[in-house]
Amino acid sequence: MSLAIFGGTPIREKPFPVWPQPTRDIEDEVLKCLHGENWGIGSKVVDRLCESFSNYHDSDFAIATNSGTTALWVALKAAGLKAGDEVIVPAYTFIATASSVLMANGIPVFADIDINTGNIDPNSVKEKITDRTRMIIPVHIGGTPCDLDSLRSIAESNNLTIIEDAAQAHGAEWDRKKVGAIGTGGCFSFQTSKNMAAGEGGIIISNDEQFMDSCFSYHNCGRVRSGGWYEHNHLGGNFRISAIQAALLIPQLKTLDHFLKVRESNRKILESSISHIDGISTLQTLPKVTRSANHIFICRYDEKQFNGISRDTFFKAMQAEGIYTYQGYKPLYKENLFIIDSSEYPWLRDVDYRNISLPCTERLCEKESIWLKQNYLLGSPEDTQDVINAFEKVTSAMKAEPNLFLDRDKNN
Ligand SMILES: Cc1ncc(COP(=O)(O)O)c(C=O)c1O
Repeated sequence: MSLAIFGGTPIREKPFPVWPQPTRDIEDEVLKCLHGENWGIGSKVVDRLCESFSNYHDSDFAIATNSGTTALWVALKAAGLKAGDEVIVPAYTFIATASSVLMANGIPVFADIDINTGNIDPNSVKEKITDRTRMIIPVHIGGTPCDLDSLRSIAESNNLTIIEDAAQAHGAEWDRKKVGAIGTGGCFSFQTSKNMAAGEGGIIISNDEQFMDSCFSYHNCGRVRSGGWYEHNHLGGNFRISAIQAALLIPQLKTLDHFLKVRESNRKILESSISHIDGISTLQTLPKVTRSANHIFICRYDEKQFNGISRDTFFKAMQAEGIYTYQGYKPLYKENLFIIDSSEYPWLRDVDYRNISLPCTERLCEKESIWLKQNYLLGSPEDTQDVINAFEKVTSAMKAEPNLFLDRDKNN
């Protein structure tokens, strides 16, 4: 079968399911909100979202925000982060995990990942602890929970606070308990690609009432829960969600389980087929992960098994087949943001991110990671079969006729 990159017929020309998906319930809830009451602060719709989200996620309290990034900033401030405090974050994540620390005047300290899971490695976290470390932000990458037992025990013995970055992990479970409130608090995103989407938005959950009172203040211009309208106790901001966003989200709590089942089933079909290809391996899920949110499908490419053909050429061949694969994250410390200008960030005067090298993060980002777009996990079994067929078609051709691809590599 001739490869599409060399002029053959692509495996697939149809799009994958769109996301987010409007439903009748969402339309009804939004219309009710439009005509019902006020669209912002004090809205009962926002209260309903917070109540149902925290119930669903096995937590006592929730405060909705206008993004996952602001949720993280609010949670860090409310947990008591002070200027110059260090916060350990994985280097393999979205920028907001680390930039929220900088925005709260803290120092992000990057830990490496476990190459087998893609999640933060507790041993690397231990190595990064100093007398200035105050917090850890574990991220559940791709929606698969990280090793929360080990991280909690490290946090307890070193008196550190855990703020979970669960931006991609709605509904995920560690040891039969939903993630988010396993640490002091956890933050989710409702940005348009996420498993629950409102265009933009975020939420913090926790079982700690005092922490949540403080979150309330930081997300609401520094106001105090029972205080006056013009009473401001902290340097907060207007990071509130709107009622319309909340209305978009409430019905999605009822459909989340269905979509999580579809994602799980497609991941299993994919994994059981592509893991037979020599040179492609899937990420491991720890035994205590009782449910992954399967937000992003990530697997690994081993150049050595493909005659040295670069991963980029593999991506191009897959894309030509109509299956969009790509690298995903870069090691965060290599982003230009971390070439620090100490006139802008004086508390980072003594920090030089250019000296950092985290081998597993670099290996996964620069050589191995293969991402599928998040909506690919929402298709039918036939859609998923197209992905498998493309993997098989491209990889078998790379093994059979490597020179064709190596020539491509040279021209890239
Ligand atoms: C791991 C992670 N953390 C934080 C965020 C930030 O969320 P938002 O885009 O809603 O600000 C995202 C989402 O983009 C994310 O994937």
